[in-house]
Amino acid sequence: MRITVRVPATSANLGPGFDCFGLALDLCNEVTIDTEAEPGVSWEGEGVDELPIDGSDMVTTTIARVGALHELQVPPLHLHGLNKIPLERGLGSSSAAAVAGVVLGSRLFDLSIDGHDSSEGNDPYSVATLAAQIEGHPDNAAPAAFGGFTIATADGFVRRLDPHPDLRPVVLVPRSIRVPTSVARQALSPTVSRADAVFNAAHAALMVEALTRDPSLLVQAMRDQLHQAARLALVPPVAEVFRSLRDRNMPVCVSGAGPSLLAFELEGRDVLDPGEGWTVLRPGVRATGFEVSIER
Ligand code: HSE
Repeated sequence: MRITVRVPATSANLGPGFDCFGLALDLCNEVTIDTEAEPGVSWEGEGVDELPIDGSDMVTTTIARVGALHELQVPPLHLHGLNKIPLERGLGSSSAAAVAGVVLGSRLFDLSIDGHDSSEGNDPYSVATLAAQIEGHPDNAAPAAFGGFTIATADGFVRRLDPHPDLRPVVLVPRSIRVPTSVARQALSPTVSRADAVFNAAHAALMVEALTRDPSLLVQAMRDQLHQAARLALVPPVAEVFRSLRDRNMPVCVSGAGPSLLAFELEGRDVLDPGEGWTVLRPGVRATGFEVSIER
């Protein structure tokens, strides 16, 4: 049996929606497991030289955890990952791995967590919930499972909204700067002022309108007082590009925990390439979440 799952990159927070907003991007990792092939793990693309091949990677361990929930053991298999999502750049690579593992485990053990037995088709809710429990970030797991723009609350609720068709996301990835999410979270103050909380609540509400109905509001809406300043302070070259985009009145935020930036191009206003050391991606918004195919 060969099972292949494709899972999109995701950009969490979107500025004011710290730990709850997420957007799926059309940049997908693809993972295949094959129960007939020589057992092992192999990688291609992003992280090829650093991802473990001893079974301790997030996809393999998630498959094993899904099995363990039902007292099932993983049979011998080969796992191959074709990675397009850069690692530790704020683009949800580990959530994508957790979602891939949940979906692959669901199919391998015939558990229908991903809803394949249901006439309704995919069940992104159960996949997002389990992947978030395993990986810890519902704001990435939700868009990876549902696609589009998602609002995920800490108490397990997810709402998917259709992003406005005119959204043109641009992801700016600093090639040689990486920040593990744990480090980017340690940089945050444990408490926030009431004024900052109010600022973010208002801008998050505006951001929902901007992302779904009126992208001209993005410049106004995409502002944050809770996490971005502390994170940009960790990466001065990124902070400089962020400021120059803001000075040109472009909507820009730190993508997830950083260090990549997410900007949106507006009518007649393109995002300029920051130059050497940066990769500029224009992946488009992805309307759907994971996709799975199976050959028996
Ligand atoms: N909301 C999380 C953070 C995203 O900003 O730390 C982590 O991918």
